[in-house]
Amino acid sequence: MTLLARTGARYARILGVGRALPSRVVDNAEMCTYIDSSDEWIRQRTGIVERRWIADGESVETLARDASLEAIANSGVAPADIDAVIVSTVSYFHQTPGLAPKLAFQLGAIGAAAYDISAACAGFCYAIAQAEALIRSGAATHVLVVGAETLSRLTDLSDRSTAFLFADGAGAVVIGPSDVNGISPVVWGSDGEAGPTIHQATDWEGAVRDQTWPYIWMDGRQVFRWASGFVADAALDILEKSGLTPDDLDTFIPHQANNRITDAMLRHLKLPEHVKVARSIVNYGNNSAASIPIAMSEMLASGEAKSGDTALIIGFGAGLVYAGQVVTLP
Ligand SMILES: CC(C)(COP(=O)(O)OP(=O)(O)OC[C@H]1O[C@@H](n2cnc3c(N)ncnc32)[C@H](O)[C@@H]1OP(=O)(O)O)[C@@H](O)C(=O)NCCC(=O)NCCS
Repeated sequence: MTLLARTGARYARILGVGRALPSRVVDNAEMCTYIDSSDEWIRQRTGIVERRWIADGESVETLARDASLEAIANSGVAPADIDAVIVSTVSYFHQTPGLAPKLAFQLGAIGAAAYDISAACAGFCYAIAQAEALIRSGAATHVLVVGAETLSRLTDLSDRSTAFLFADGAGAVVIGPSDVNGISPVVWGSDGEAGPTIHQATDWEGAVRDQTWPYIWMDGRQVFRWASGFVADAALDILEKSGLTPDDLDTFIPHQANNRITDAMLRHLKLPEHVKVARSIVNYGNNSAASIPIAMSEMLASGEAKSGDTALIIGFGAGLVYAGQVVTLP
């Protein structure tokens, strides 16, 4: 007996992108009411001028929904034709069921395969790799990929080594079949041995038992070293696996972890002057899995990037995990 197999589209590409930011603006002056710091220090060490936190009536669910609605509208794909939904988040506090099935239902992607993934700040690029593979295998035709976070809920506002960094937001893309390739082979991996570098101080059981909140803890210097060395090398590997050189790029959209990490990567990659570089961290802080699609959406909306541009995207964070691709912008 031979089992039937199927294959899907030859190639995949991003068809539309959207973003949603919470309404509450938290500037560095307000941040300095929580921690002993200064606007100058935060700007100089991270580039952040202000970040967004959810206000009443907003949640990781509403952000994911609003970003998805914009991505779907921009893609031209009918919600009913989306047959898989992947949500990357570490800040949806229902362990089960996941956010993706609920979101699929709300959006009208009725019956779509739907699941959440947890790959922190690399989650968007992990999910892009999955979507591309699902489409090319024939397991799905149109995939909605969402990065949605409310890291303000996991941030210890008395911790002066993390409080100024983390933020809330959501970004989404619709990915579908294409005649020409719009998503390069993924370069990805993990280093679980270095897991303690960024981790939650306790799990939910410990939180209940000890009455402590599972805030994110980080060894900033170690993250910085890893990101500007190992992850920057991974970015070079992505280019090689795509058959491109830095000259072929129009846009560089790294995870918005820290402007100084982006600067270090730029030095490593030796990107030419014409390449536009995402800097949305300045106004939105580090919103983990949401940062790359938010930056992509902003650059297209402002005209800094345009449809058809060739963009290098790369995410990295808690795990440690990293992933990236070269994509054609929608
Ligand atoms: C977090 C980060 C900005 C801290 O910068 P840093 O230069 O490593 O800071 P350090 O912890 O070494 O401290 C340097 C000095 O600043 C001080 N400092 C630390 N936090 C401060 C704050 N919030 N405000 C003002 N001063 C601060 C320290 O006390 C220290 O002072 P000293 O030199 O007098 O002892 C930096 O490590 C970083 O960007 N890491 C990457 C983190 C990241 O991007 N994570 C996300 C990954 S997804």
